[in-house]
Amino acid sequence: MWDRFLRACRREPVDVTPVWFMRQAGRYMAEYRAIREKYKLLEICRTPELAVEVTLQPVRALGVDAAILFADILLPIEPMGVAFDFAAGEGPVIERPVTDAAAVDRLRLFDPEEGLGHVLAAVRSLRAELDNKTPLIGFAGAPFTLASYLIEGGKSSNYAETKRLMYNEPKVWNALLEKLAEVVRRYLVAQIAAGAHAVQLFDSWVGQLAPNDYAAYVQPHVRHILSGLGESGVPVIHFGTGTATLLELQRDAGGSVLGVDWRVPLDQARARLGNGVAVQGNLDPLLLQAPRELLAARVDEVLERAGKLPGHIFNLGHGILPETSPDAVKFVVDRVHANSSR
Ligand code: CP3
Repeated sequence: MWDRFLRACRREPVDVTPVWFMRQAGRYMAEYRAIREKYKLLEICRTPELAVEVTLQPVRALGVDAAILFADILLPIEPMGVAFDFAAGEGPVIERPVTDAAAVDRLRLFDPEEGLGHVLAAVRSLRAELDNKTPLIGFAGAPFTLASYLIEGGKSSNYAETKRLMYNEPKVWNALLEKLAEVVRRYLVAQIAAGAHAVQLFDSWVGQLAPNDYAAYVQPHVRHILSGLGESGVPVIHFGTGTATLLELQRDAGGSVLGVDWRVPLDQARARLGNGVAVQGNLDPLLLQAPRELLAARVDEVLERAGKLPGHIFNLGHGILPETSPDAVKFVVDRVHANSSR
């Protein structure tokens, strides 16, 4: 069943539970490391042929039920006017962080075909390569998560600069998130027009916020993105981590599928969220580095807690880590398919 991932997103019956992984293309794979020896991460992202090849690597090796476009959530900040690079071992480095009203004013809204045409070209050729045999997921970063990189200048442990701006300069904060939300909305619309079968919004770090602050400072901007996308008819996955106390607010902001991380058992998540939304998750990525019997037991437990009602997509609670063995990943794919037949 080529479309079991899309069917599960729409809460329709499936033969077996669909499974794919965040960061299913990446350093844990020898095939990816071979390409990375020759090209930098941003070169891969900016060259459609390379992005297509890397996207297809895990589809061939693992038999997953969806492909995810190889790109990065930070790509749109460059056409907005913010230069950045990936420093070895450090993650993203933003040259001049965005910390005041003048810097927010300078940020540009751009036409995705002009600013990120190479990504849309990759989407188009992936649609042709995948030939309706595997659905393609497009994606973008959510405003809070993108803002945190713009403000902090890179990764952060406590998001102090981000929260300082949010609490002390709410006008600047809202202007920044409004711009990011509009850029992301246009970018996702363009990915869907180019052929993405589904899209995922990554709000990876929003679990840093208390529910009342999420509702006040973030939810309206996420809603701006997600409310319009529903009309496209493609499934929209709304993802975050550390979101145990935010799930209902995230659901209310929009999306047909909610990402749930390993801190919340899926039966509890589904009871809280009701039947109007599908769920995606939620194995702890480190279980892929645990003994095989423990991994097997925890895979089965995720399936059991998800229950037999339609609307579960198996995934990790966050991305695959570089130290993971590809065999463990393949083991999970096969076990999910073998142990979830309806
Ligand atoms: O999931 C996939 O297979 C698709 C590709 C993908 C990448 N980044 C490629 C990548 C996706 C979906 C992302 C999203 C992304 N990028 C997020 C949200 C998802 C999440 O993990 O929460 C974030 C926060 C980023 C920003 C980013 N990109 C960081 C913080 C880093 C460095 C982290 C690290 O592990 O070194 C990256 C680099 C990056 N983006 C890699 C990959 C495969 C690392 C591999 C490399 O350097 O070659």
